[in-house]
Amino acid sequence: MAHLPQIDNAWLHMKRDRIVDFGAMDTCPKLADIKGKKIDCTGKMVLPCWCDSHSHIVFAAYREEEFIYKVKGMTYEEIAAKGGGILNSARRLAEATEEELFQSAWKRLQSMIRLGTGALEIKSGYGLTTESELKMLRVIKRLKAESPIPIKATFLGAHSLPPAYKNDRAAYISLIINEMMPAIARDNLADYCDVFCERGFFTPEETAEIVQAGARHGMKAKIHANQLDYSGGVQVGVANGAISVDHLEHCGEGEIAALQGSNTMPTLLPSCAFFINLPFPPARALMQAGLPVTLATDYNPGSTPSGNMQFVVSLACIKMKMLPEEAINAATINGARAMELEHLVGSIEPGKRANVIITKPIPSLAYIPYAFGEDVVEEVVINGRIWGK
Ligand code: NIG
Ligand code: FE
Repeated sequence: MAHLPQIDNAWLHMKRDRIVDFGAMDTCPKLADIKGKKIDCTGKMVLPCWCDSHSHIVFAAYREEEFIYKVKGMTYEEIAAKGGGILNSARRLAEATEEELFQSAWKRLQSMIRLGTGALEIKSGYGLTTESELKMLRVIKRLKAESPIPIKATFLGAHSLPPAYKNDRAAYISLIINEMMPAIARDNLADYCDVFCERGFFTPEETAEIVQAGARHGMKAKIHANQLDYSGGVQVGVANGAISVDHLEHCGEGEIAALQGSNTMPTLLPSCAFFINLPFPPARALMQAGLPVTLATDYNPGSTPSGNMQFVVSLACIKMKMLPEEAINAATINGARAMELEHLVGSIEPGKRANVIITKPIPSLAYIPYAFGEDVVEEVVINGRIWGK
């Protein structure tokens, strides 16, 4: 992961929405022969766009009132137990129209593209009823259809137990499997199925039951695993062929051993750990074990109200001791793989989508994570066009 090929003084040719070729300047085709726009990037860097493989950007309202509880010392779990958290978002979402949800998510998507994101995964999970989960997934489907960047949709009906099912967990799981999943499959509303496998949320056994049913409906697994505790989420994800297991704030030798030899990507969300004061995941130990660490934002109104991948890359270096090259690989090509989009995005290669970041003039690659809080992105090229122009 520390190997990130770079060319000083290079050219890059994009045609329509694709990358055609690139190379060192002494191999540059005669510029006079090339029709179309030429962009002088002297002093700047050109990188593949970020691939953000974990987000919850469809929601009805921010939860900044919970932020104040947090500042006063309450933990994420205490806020959730008080009826805050995911259930708070579910109440607000039930009242919102599909159009309102689309418009607010569309704005978030635009601002993420402006920050350099060129591919995105979006989850449901603030519905928790069949009607509201389907509403969220239809919004994600419309985002997919209208978005200039590729989007993957994930069904997260098992995000929290609705209060009405407090004394009958099995009934809610049955609703997920027997009512929500067939409707989702019928309308082709989700690529993946996710479960919040966590103390106080869903057990590993429940997680296995849900993702196995998801697989029968054509949805591969992605798991919220080991965020608040050693939940068994990593092991159940690997055992069920999950594309990724995400969070991993609690990740020891057993989890690392389970991941070795699997195709499951360990996905780390350091801006979430930062925001709710959790331990940072052991990125170095995962990489030393030969595992393809992935970075994503987890943008959501409760634990990560931010879709800024550059900040995620900074935190990865500052708090998890990833080298800039490792962090950028984790936030681009590995993120693409965690959405099964590695053939299309995540690197600058002929034939891939022409989604690239042009930085402001910066001294070196290391400046990108080093200058935390500074937006180094000058322009974003999406499908071969400068975004917003
Ligand atoms: O990934 N962990 C579960 N889900 C989200 C938080 C959701 C919320 O608080 O609204 C997460 O951190
Ligand atoms: Fe999440």
